Amino acid sequence: MNEQTLSMRLERVAAHVPAGARLADIGSDHGYLPVALMRRGAIEAAVAGEMALTPFRSAERTVRENDLSQKITVRLADGLTAIEPQDAITAISICGMGGETIRDILEAGKVRLSGHERLILQPNGGEQPLRQWLMDNDYRILCEEVLRENRFDYEIIVAERGDPVTYTDEELYFGPHQLQARSPAFVTKWQHRLRHKQQTLNHFGRARHGVCEHKVQDLVRQVRWINDVLG
Ligand SMILES: C[S@@+](CC[C@H](N)C(=O)[O-])C[C@H]1O[C@@H](n2cnc3c(N)ncnc32)[C@H](O)[C@@H]1O
Repeated sequence: MNEQTLSMRLERVAAHVPAGARLADIGSDHGYLPVALMRRGAIEAAVAGEMALTPFRSAERTVRENDLSQKITVRLADGLTAIEPQDAITAISICGMGGETIRDILEAGKVRLSGHERLILQPNGGEQPLRQWLMDNDYRILCEEVLRENRFDYEIIVAERGDPVTYTDEELYFGPHQLQARSPAFVTKWQHRLRHKQQTLNHFGRARHGVCEHKVQDLVRQVRWINDVLG
């Protein structure tokens, strides 16, 4: 992967960035996403935010080597503090981190959100708490994807703020659109998850002592939901 050839995961994220967007890519690492989009003429301007020095330098290098320093600003910053009002950001991507981390970044940086930005989120796990945050903060999920690359299942969640929306517990767990579409990638992902959760339950059953009953009941509920969805 580089700024010319994105991974399939980042390529699908790129597909959800509106044409002509002013993008803030938070946790940009090497900066491949904003640089690739800018090289294609797909966005107007970008901020690449990074909290760690080595990836920050890497993003700076990618931007410089592509002669895009006029269009892409690289900032060493924690979460949404990378965004300044004058950036007039219209889309925010936060990719390749746990869903809880993405949620915490959004929660900590709430005051920097105008409410007009599209959020393009690619959590690695922890999708449920992330969807819960979106619902609690009046973000409607516009679309979702599951994709498999290098034996990992990735999810992409695209959301925009609007009228309050209510999702059921199952919708928060599986994703409201994914639950409707039940794509082959979605089914494969949940077949894997089911096998893993059943193994954990068996393990709990053999352990007998020292396993929190609440944890067992939660797992039993998840297994029931997944079985119901997979039919
Ligand atoms: C696994 S990389 C993902 C890079 C890229 N977004 C992608 O999807 O390929 C996660 C990056 O997020 C950065 N990161 C984690 N928490 C962050 C935060 N609160 N603010 C800014 N960057 C953060 C890490 O330093 C790391 O470079």
